[in-house]
Amino acid sequence: MTAMPFPGFNSDSIDNILVNPAAYADESVHAAYTQLRAEDPVHWTEPTGFRPFWSITRHADIVAISKANDRFINRERTYISPIEAEEWVKATTGDSHLFRTLVDLDDPLHMKLRRITHTWFLPQNLKALEPRIAGIAKAHVDHMASLGGACDFVNEVALWYPLRVIMMILGLPAEDEPRMLQMTQEIFGPQDPDVVARSRIISQGLGGPEATGNPQVDIFALVQQFFAYFGEVLADRRANPRDDLATVIAQGTVDGEPIGLLEAISYYAITVTAGHDTTSSSASGGLLALMQHPDVLAQLKADPALIPAAVEEMIRWVTPVKHFMRTCTEDTEIGGKLIKAGDGVALFYWSGNRDEAVFDDPFRFRIDRPSNPQTAFGNGVHQCLGLHLARMEIRALFAELLPRLESIELTGAPQLSVANFVSGLKSMPVRYTLK
Ligand code: HEM
Repeated sequence: MTAMPFPGFNSDSIDNILVNPAAYADESVHAAYTQLRAEDPVHWTEPTGFRPFWSITRHADIVAISKANDRFINRERTYISPIEAEEWVKATTGDSHLFRTLVDLDDPLHMKLRRITHTWFLPQNLKALEPRIAGIAKAHVDHMASLGGACDFVNEVALWYPLRVIMMILGLPAEDEPRMLQMTQEIFGPQDPDVVARSRIISQGLGGPEATGNPQVDIFALVQQFFAYFGEVLADRRANPRDDLATVIAQGTVDGEPIGLLEAISYYAITVTAGHDTTSSSASGGLLALMQHPDVLAQLKADPALIPAAVEEMIRWVTPVKHFMRTCTEDTEIGGKLIKAGDGVALFYWSGNRDEAVFDDPFRFRIDRPSNPQTAFGNGVHQCLGLHLARMEIRALFAELLPRLESIELTGAPQLSVANFVSGLKSMPVRYTLK
């Protein structure tokens, strides 16, 4: 099949735009999404250097495929990755994945593993953590206040806040944060060289592997380090259980047996990574949206009861996870197209969250939407396990920040990361007056 002609783009380039990390940094991918939603919402996509797949851009189709987890599985292909990278993973691990995390697995094993922490992530349990999360939010706003009225909000506040929360819930020491940041950012999001360079600077002198300049060698060294770090955590929590999430995972069983080393390390991996960039991007992108909509900022300051609705809109607006993939296991019709067994499908959440059929005025940041069925957390059996925690964290940050914020403005152009999987602001210089 050939790519559809696309007015405004080279006729053969629409497929490349959908996977091009730069199109996420300048948001030009939205033009592609919008046209696909209107003209070819289930679109056969053949980007150069990638295995082909179907691009799913409408909200309803994204939700339907996510919920049909019996026919659309995760194991084969979790996210869009160049053929070269897929081949490297296969050659290195003999498998299609570096880890065996929840998002890489299917039921029944997926559900058995998910059950281990399911209750821990429920609102009833998280309620007990609320005061500690509020305390961490306050410490980060205090830190912002101490910076003399100007900072890079992403690099000095938003990047660190959710990391501190995750380290706290896992029961890991604060001094390991720079190393954790390096391992997670470089293993899981190395598309943007600025992000890699930043984490190298932050973790300098901390004993991590020296960069060789060969990304695959560097990632492998970090993966080994990640296994070593969490291998120790696992052994410790099995020997000395504590009241933390690291212990819940270490003590987890499947069919009466303790979970395997790879499953346990992968569980730690998904917890630290899934809960970090996503939450920090939503917070910084949310603050940017408020600066760009001063009327909404004033409304929120006047009525903090609006914060939960604002947080939901921030998450829709930013949609930090841009896509996940599934693989079809039996021929299925979606939107009038026949998806064949074995075909990959990419669920483009950012597009679903701009779907005109679901959201009035989707390109406007509005906190007065009568309903906000945003799809940034996914749907179905893989729906984000940490969604209540994420909401709680972002709410706590704005509940602390907004009453203390007398003024705030940009002092330079905010920059989005160059990444097509998990992406968001990588820099946002601001000047402010904070009580
Ligand atoms: C605004 C913040 C967040 C966003 C937008 C987000 C988004 C997502 C998305 C899109 C998925 C895949 C859903 C699917 O395939 O249907 C997911 C899965 C997951 N998320 Fe989040 N996430 C966020 C925060 C968190 C936090 C704070 C944690 C925990 C600390 C977390 C843990 C997980 C886990 C463990 C999974 C895998 C679930 C499974 O496969 O069963 N996430 N998240």
